Amino acid sequence: MKNEPGITPASDTPSFRPLAARRSGPLAGTIRVPGDKSISHRALMLGGLAVGETHVTGLLEGEDVLATARAMDAMGASIVREADGAWRINGVGIGGLTEPDAPLDMGNAGTAARLLMGVVAGHPFTSFFTGDASLRGRPMKRVIAPLEMMGARVVSRSEGRLPLAVCGTGTPMPLDYALPVPSAQVKSAVLMCGLSAPGTTTVHEDRPSRDHTERMLRHFGADVAVESAGSGGGVRITLEGQPELSGASIDVPGDISSAAFPIAAALMVPGSDISIDHVGMNPLRTGLIATLNDMGANIGISDEREASGEPVAKLNVRHTSLQGIEVPPERAPAMIDEYPVLAVLAACAEGPTVMRGIAELRVKESDRIAAMVAGLRAAGVEVQEFDDGLVVEGQGRPPVGGVTVTTHLDHRIAMSFLILGLATDEPVAIDDSTPIATSFPRFVELMRSLGADMGPEQLG
Ligand code: S3P
Repeated sequence: MKNEPGITPASDTPSFRPLAARRSGPLAGTIRVPGDKSISHRALMLGGLAVGETHVTGLLEGEDVLATARAMDAMGASIVREADGAWRINGVGIGGLTEPDAPLDMGNAGTAARLLMGVVAGHPFTSFFTGDASLRGRPMKRVIAPLEMMGARVVSRSEGRLPLAVCGTGTPMPLDYALPVPSAQVKSAVLMCGLSAPGTTTVHEDRPSRDHTERMLRHFGADVAVESAGSGGGVRITLEGQPELSGASIDVPGDISSAAFPIAAALMVPGSDISIDHVGMNPLRTGLIATLNDMGANIGISDEREASGEPVAKLNVRHTSLQGIEVPPERAPAMIDEYPVLAVLAACAEGPTVMRGIAELRVKESDRIAAMVAGLRAAGVEVQEFDDGLVVEGQGRPPVGGVTVTTHLDHRIAMSFLILGLATDEPVAIDDSTPIATSFPRFVELMRSLGADMGPEQLG
């Protein structure tokens, strides 16, 4: 990578940086949140596989995405940072990547690891993947299984965990695959490998997961069809292999999973009224908005338009007292990363909020069910824990707080508890804020610009 100020290698030995949040006055202002993480990863990967130049604006410059940039660069794509969020990629064409001469360190990034495993599975060389302690504990069998069916060979640590080696093939077999877990990462890994296959790759999903890969593949010129299958809302996705992808322009919308934090803060802190511009509103990502509206919020949506094949809009959020609800389990794929911050909102809502059918949360950057249960209980909230979820007993007012929560290398746990601290009687601290940089590099600065009382000086 050229011209990359501020980019440092992913570190395996983070120094802990505690941080705290204190009850704040009304939050106000109009902000933009950083670019969508899912779309940013895909822009770098598909830009690197396209022929010609790709220009990306609004790229998330968080640690996770920089891991993808470094990996694509190490395999021969030319990736240049031109200005804040503006990156130029010169792709090598499908099958044109070259063997990396060192292990690919994916840091904390599950999406980078799983999608890139799909990319390299369709190339005739061997590559080695590693990551931080959180990523090395995450399940990869779900990706290894279909990639091996397509002809790649994978040698991993026990339980399919990183570090692992992918011995790819230049001519993977087209696969017809029913996803055993509703995972956009697994679907995308199969499609990435399917790009090199001489034929049609098909993926069946019972519950549709985020479709950024399908949308972006089309944006680059691939032939991708999505048809509904069966009466239960399932879909069948087909990709014609070996397409000619042509360089394109991509305007990355703000990440709704990052917007979720200021949204939650504004709902919780009395008197707040904030707006967030240019937020990605892909219908397979907006489950949190639907859930919050079910709880009594009235989130304003305006300026609806399209950016590079993705819907975007401006959101307006005002303080509202929320009611606990039962979150429909079938909504989980559309809000899978938002349960931690929803659990925090549920703690301040009136009555129980039931969040079940989310066992997947146990294999995210941390066991998010366990982390939320522990942190909320310590903050004075009554919570029931189940294998597949949790029930938070909201008291109709914020809990006491006055705790330091363990974040387990998980950015969303870290940010969720800082948001809680903006409304509790006593401050809420987190043991380590460093993981926040994986997805939301200027989180504290942005929250402070709205009036949030957050910082290291709040401790003690
Ligand atoms: C992602 C898919 C989701 C999500 C992750 C990003 C993606 O994971 O939790 O943060 O970009 O495809 P799963 O596909 O494992 O559910």
